[in-house]
Amino acid sequence: MTPHLLLVDDDPDLLHLLTLRLRAAGYRVTTAASAEAALAQIAIERPQLVLSDVQLPGQDGLRLFDEIHVRHPTLPVILLTAHGTIPDAVEATARGVFSYLTKPFDGKELLDKIAQALALYAGEGEEGSAEEEAWRGAIISRSNRMAELLHEAKLVARSDASVLIRGESGTGKELLAQAIHRASPRAGRPFVAVNCSAIPEQLLESELFGHVKGAFTGAVSHHEGLFRAAAGGTLFLDEIGDMPINLQAKLLRTLQERIVRPVGSSQSMPVDVRILSSTHQNLETAIAEEQFREDLYYRLNVVELTLPPLRDRREDIPLLANHFLVRLAQKYDKHLNGFAPEALKALTLYSWPGNVRQLYNVVEQVCALATTLLIPLSLVQRALRVPSVEILSLAAARERFEREYLTGLLKVTGGNVADAARLAERNRTEFYRLLQKHGLTPDSFRPPALVSPERQP
Ligand SMILES: Nc1ncnc2c1ncn2[C@@H]1O[C@H](COP(=O)(O)OP(=O)(O)OP(=O)(O)O)[C@@H](O)[C@H]1O
Ligand SMILES: [Mg+2]
Repeated sequence: MTPHLLLVDDDPDLLHLLTLRLRAAGYRVTTAASAEAALAQIAIERPQLVLSDVQLPGQDGLRLFDEIHVRHPTLPVILLTAHGTIPDAVEATARGVFSYLTKPFDGKELLDKIAQALALYAGEGEEGSAEEEAWRGAIISRSNRMAELLHEAKLVARSDASVLIRGESGTGKELLAQAIHRASPRAGRPFVAVNCSAIPEQLLESELFGHVKGAFTGAVSHHEGLFRAAAGGTLFLDEIGDMPINLQAKLLRTLQERIVRPVGSSQSMPVDVRILSSTHQNLETAIAEEQFREDLYYRLNVVELTLPPLRDRREDIPLLANHFLVRLAQKYDKHLNGFAPEALKALTLYSWPGNVRQLYNVVEQVCALATTLLIPLSLVQRALRVPSVEILSLAAARERFEREYLTGLLKVTGGNVADAARLAERNRTEFYRLLQKHGLTPDSFRPPALVSPERQP
């Protein structure tokens, strides 16, 4: 698509000359003779870049920038100044104006600045129709790799084929699963996600397949299970590589025969669900090590979609960073105009081992610490040097630590509260109170009483 530039100047000769020059360079150009006309023009069609004189009749160029910024925080603006007074220029860049040029400027300098601004910001605000894009939900991207992947995802969404979504941690596997569901004929039915690595084995079986009352100690009532909760819709098995081998056989049978049998029940019930699964592990290795069943792998992996790591789609970085910044500025109730161009460049060049999730955490960190309208390079460098942390209140971090600590103790002791309390150096009453606070049931950590027949592959 040809980039669209809006040129604002009250000098008709200069407008004419610049228009010719920019069209010759391959841009589409619209012009306006005042700030007010420019704002009206932007409301009709958002350009990819605004090039404006500072001295204008009525509102000046800096005021124009401020107004543009409120409505389109990521639309880059380059200011042209006739007198080139340095304080003006400094003020402009501190406010978040992408760049400024002093008249008379040479053509190459102008074209270079435009190309830089477009490289960092373009692609925003030029999505397809809202209806066409609704299915992809919160997925932000402009790279060709993501466009191809989303195209494939949309095609496969129409069928009931099982899809295995692969990709490094934090690349957006869960978002993609939601998008596939939304683009599928099952969109009006539930989307149910279950993280197979977060739930202890005993609990996972009854979570997935349900249980009948009295099936085991603690099964005080009948439980429907996630397969049936997702009836007619989609079940997303997150981190499928962590599914215990014992449960894999039961899952396979459920998928093959489209029936579920709740724990403790002798009866099976038909279910209609579409299965999506994800993993950041290498399942082929897990198969070779007999940790993952090959037959289940082929069931789940009818279609494979792989999310590219962020470092292989760097065009998405400025887009995501600006998007997160706008959202987080709201959350922290801060007035921020964006990243300084060097700061955005540093983000774009970083390797992002934790992918989009890490980028979000870094943006949150700089947003929380920012004291100026523009996020400076120094703040970004600092955030990238120290491992990024998720910003939590001390109380929330303690809460999470406590929960993980207790879960770990119960796993080690196989759900034996007396042993766990002793290791924690707490008395049993106090320990029970802690478990209750976190909604943890020791029973679910007990080793199985019997080896179920499904243990043998
Ligand atoms: N393209 C994107 N646009 C906007 N947000 C994204 C995008 N990709 C990922 N995110 C955000 O990054 C975070 C991680 O995404 P998600 O949980 O989908 O990744 P994942 O691949 O499932 O990670 P993990 O392997 O760690 O479970 C989420 O907060 C998600 O909203
Ligand atoms: Mg995930």
